[in-house]
Parts: sequence; structure tokens; C-alpha cells
Amino acid sequence: MDKLIITGNGPLRGEVEISGAKNASLPIITAAILASGKSIVRRVPELKDISTMMKLLCNMGAAASSENGSAVIDTSVMNNFEAPYDLVKTMRASVLVLGPLVARYGRAKVSLPGGCAIGARPINMHLSGLEKMGARIELQSGYVLAEADMLKGASIYFDIPTVTGTENLMMAAALAKGTTVLENAAREPEVVDLAECLVKMGARINGAGSSIIEIEGVAELNPIVEHSVIADRIEAGTFMAIAGATGGDLLIKNFSAKHLDAVIMKFMDAGIIFEKEEAGMRVKGPEKLKACDIKTMPYPGFPTDMQAQFMALMARADGTSVISETVFENRFMHVAELRRMGANISIEGGMATVRGAKTLKGAPVMATDLRASASLVVAALCAEGESVLHRIYHLDRGYEKMEDKLKKIGAIVSRAH
Ligand code: EPU
Repeated sequence: MDKLIITGNGPLRGEVEISGAKNASLPIITAAILASGKSIVRRVPELKDISTMMKLLCNMGAAASSENGSAVIDTSVMNNFEAPYDLVKTMRASVLVLGPLVARYGRAKVSLPGGCAIGARPINMHLSGLEKMGARIELQSGYVLAEADMLKGASIYFDIPTVTGTENLMMAAALAKGTTVLENAAREPEVVDLAECLVKMGARINGAGSSIIEIEGVAELNPIVEHSVIADRIEAGTFMAIAGATGGDLLIKNFSAKHLDAVIMKFMDAGIIFEKEEAGMRVKGPEKLKACDIKTMPYPGFPTDMQAQFMALMARADGTSVISETVFENRFMHVAELRRMGANISIEGGMATVRGAKTLKGAPVMATDLRASASLVVAALCAEGESVLHRIYHLDRGYEKMEDKLKKIGAIVSRAH
């Protein structure tokens, strides 16, 4: 299993190009299932999760490949409507094939994802929404079996705004008979990007980006002629944390700052300096970070996907900060690893109290999930000495060319097998 060896070496400086968003690419790739023919998606990052999704589509009979940032998916032939356990267990986002399969082929067999390192993560709202649209759902030997002759429009209220749940039902509703209204829908930029892509395919969608989305079903959709996915806001936020933690100076390019409003405001409270330039956003770390509190929330709140990286930053800040995780119940697995590096953090329920330490010290640590790995990278880059990050495959699932990008800004980093 690969590991990453990082030696903290002070302020990192240079330019970072942000890649396309993993969490926008995944639903957009599955949207190709809704039409017959060749779809082309641009700015798709080269990541393990993307190749898993392509494998899943190939397993269904489609021809799917991705090269140099372009994913080509030909759904002219689709003859297997199953997402097997072996693929779903490595990537929960596989569940995104459910809505498109039922809408277009009237059936799907998708493995139930089960729990993961950040929480139980059920898909009950995806299933009850599809049921409301007329699908018959059965659970059998760990699989969801869904069937429908023709989905019909419905009014669906989400108890909690769910990102992939909103995406799944929006895709299903695009081909349903009649109008679907999703209330308390997720407002994340990735939901909006998917809606924009669906509209290019011929879907009728209003309100994406607000908490009420209205979808008027159409009989047929066209393949994706060309769609370029939005920038990865979490990757951009992670590099902001790196600039802040190392007292560096990074010019972060090709992303939308408005997708990171909450994160940037909190980073500014922590003393990080932001200067808008024509080529991108310059982010400068202060001499001493100030402690500040955060509470994770669905968009436009502070994203849970930036919580771990923010905590790594606070581990060296001046003072005590309180970090509340409200989206996932178990997203503090990085705490024990950060403690191994000298961080002073205590947890009670969904709340972590971080008492800023003068220095962090390099140590062998273990990545437990994608964003936890990113927080260990942030901590290792500002720690004294060498850190060895084990199980780095988690990082490879979601950060494109992380080592290359780090090396380019002066980090001492290498990979060992
Ligand atoms: N939830 C339910 N029932 C459901 C669906 C969700 O109770 O049917 C709960 C979840 O357990 C959680 C909350 O609702 O407590 C919100 O979860 P959501 O469904 O929004 O999460 P997700 O769609 O499974 C996506 C991202 C995650 C990101 C979350 C929250 C993708 C592929 N994944 O997951 O990204 O953390 O939204 O923003 O878009 C990551 O990239 O590292 C990652 C985990």
C-alpha cells in the first residue's frame, strides 16, 4: 500500500491549478445513462473514483473511458442494470446510477452501500423519493431492487438536504411523466452543475441552487454533447489551508471563489489574507493563526468536506477553537492521528475542542478517509520533521496529482510503496 512521506519545510510558495470537481463529475457521468449515444464530459479529474465509475458503466455494457480530462461514455448498448457490491463498497457514489437506470430502463439492482469511515450514511431518502415517483423497491440480500414501468412526477420533501439524493431524484425526474418538486433540496454547486448539464441534454429544470427544484419530465434526452465540470471547491479550499498552515503565499487558479464564501470568511477570521488577482486568488498565511470556531452545514454553510483540513489549521492556531460537525456523525477519525503529531484536541459528541499547540511534530500516521488524509497532509506540511502518511489510497480517490502540485509549490514530498 502506498504511503506519502512529507517533511515540513516552512512556507510554500507558487501557483496551483485547481482540477475539475470529483463530486460534480460523478453524477454528470451517470447522467449519460439517461440518453442513448455518445456523451462527452470535459475537465474530469484523473482519480480512482472516476475510474471506478467508468468501470461500473462498462460493467453495464456501455463503452466508457477517460483520457486527458475528457470522459467519453457511449450508452448505445446497455444490457446489465446492476451495480455490484464489489464496486459500490469501494465508492458510495455508485448509488448515483440508481435514478438514471430506473428512469431509462425501468429497473436497477444496486448494492446497498453500508456504513463507512465517516458515518452510517443511509440512502433511505433516495429510495422513498423513487417510491413516491412510482418505483417498486425491494431490499434483497444487501441489494436494492427497483422497478417501474414509467416513473411519474411527485412532490418530495427531504428531511435533510442530501446531495446525491437530490442528484439521483433530479435525474430520475428528468424522464418521468409529469412534474416533480424537490423540497429542502441540496443547494451545493455540484447539484447546480448537474442541473445545467441535464438542461443541455434537453431536461426542463428550474430552481437548482435553491431549496426547491422543479423538474418537468420529458420523453427523451439527448447525450451530453459537451459539458465542462466546475472546479473542485474542496481542492481549492485544501490548498488555502496549506497556504495558511505553512505561512505560505499561493496563487490559486481556475476555481470559483463564490463557491467557497463560508470557507474564505472563516479563513479570514483565522488571519489568512486573500487578494483577488486577474490570474486567480492569492492566499497568504499569517505569522500566527488565530483560533476560530466552525460548524459544518449543508451549502452555503461551512462544508463538512473542509472540516478536517480546518482542524489541522486550528491545531497550530493561537487559542482554542470549537469545531462542530453536524452533517456526519462520525467524521472525527483524523483527530487521533492529528494527536499523534502533537495536536491537543478533545471530542465530545459532534464537537471537537482544539487547543492550539506551538508546534506539530512529524509522525507516522494513518489516513482513514479522503478528507482526513487531506488534513494529515496539511498538518505534515507545517510540522517539524518527517511524517509518513499510510493508506494514501484515500487521497488518490479525490485529489488529482496532489504530489505534483505540492512539489511545484516547494514541498518535500515523496511516495513509497
Ligand atoms: N442522509 C440520510 N439519508 C439519505 C441520504 C443522506 O440520512 O437517504 C444523511 C447522511 O447520512 C448525512 C446527511 O444526510 O448525515 C447528508 O448526506 P448527503 O446525502 O448529502 O451526502 P452524500 O450525498 O452521500 C455528498 C458528497 C460527500 C459530502 C456530502 C456532504 C458526493 C459523491 N459525495 O455525499 O463527499 O461529504 O455530500 O456535503 O457528492 C467527499 O468528497 O469526501 C465526500 C464524502
